[in-house]
Amino acid sequence: MGKKAREIVEISVPEIVNDLNKAYADEWLSLYLFWYSSRITLNTNLKSIFEKIYQRDLKHAELISARIKTLGGSIIYNPAEMIRIGNCKYPDSINAKNEKEMLESLINYKRCLIEVFNRLIKKTHGKDFVTYGIIQELIKEEIEDEDMLENFI
Ligand SMILES: [Fe+2]
Repeated sequence: MGKKAREIVEISVPEIVNDLNKAYADEWLSLYLFWYSSRITLNTNLKSIFEKIYQRDLKHAELISARIKTLGGSIIYNPAEMIRIGNCKYPDSINAKNEKEMLESLINYKRCLIEVFNRLIKKTHGKDFVTYGIIQELIKEEIEDEDMLENFI
């Protein structure tokens, strides 16, 4: 990152990199959770919604990783680390035979992501406008995801 680009970030860069790595872990786990759910669900409508969501989560992970790199940080290597540092609790299991229960677990995960981004958007507001812009885009899509899932219950 260039000199001026660093100067205009008014929060501790290591702190924001740490926050972004936690959100990066949440996005990868969400991606896997929805990919897995798309493979086990018996409902073809749900399958296509889950596919749309995990494809978005991949895009989100890519956007976050690009920002971490620009800030001079490193992204997580080990998937076990993702479970350890992620903000959102990974569901113990997903039961495709009980659609309502499956959707509730998935919605809870999305709601946690919305909270994570809501905290980050408040933290970066007026202090790191580039990260703020990225998170703004991400939270908008997470809110849409929650809405799509809620419509199935
Ligand atoms: Fe996402």
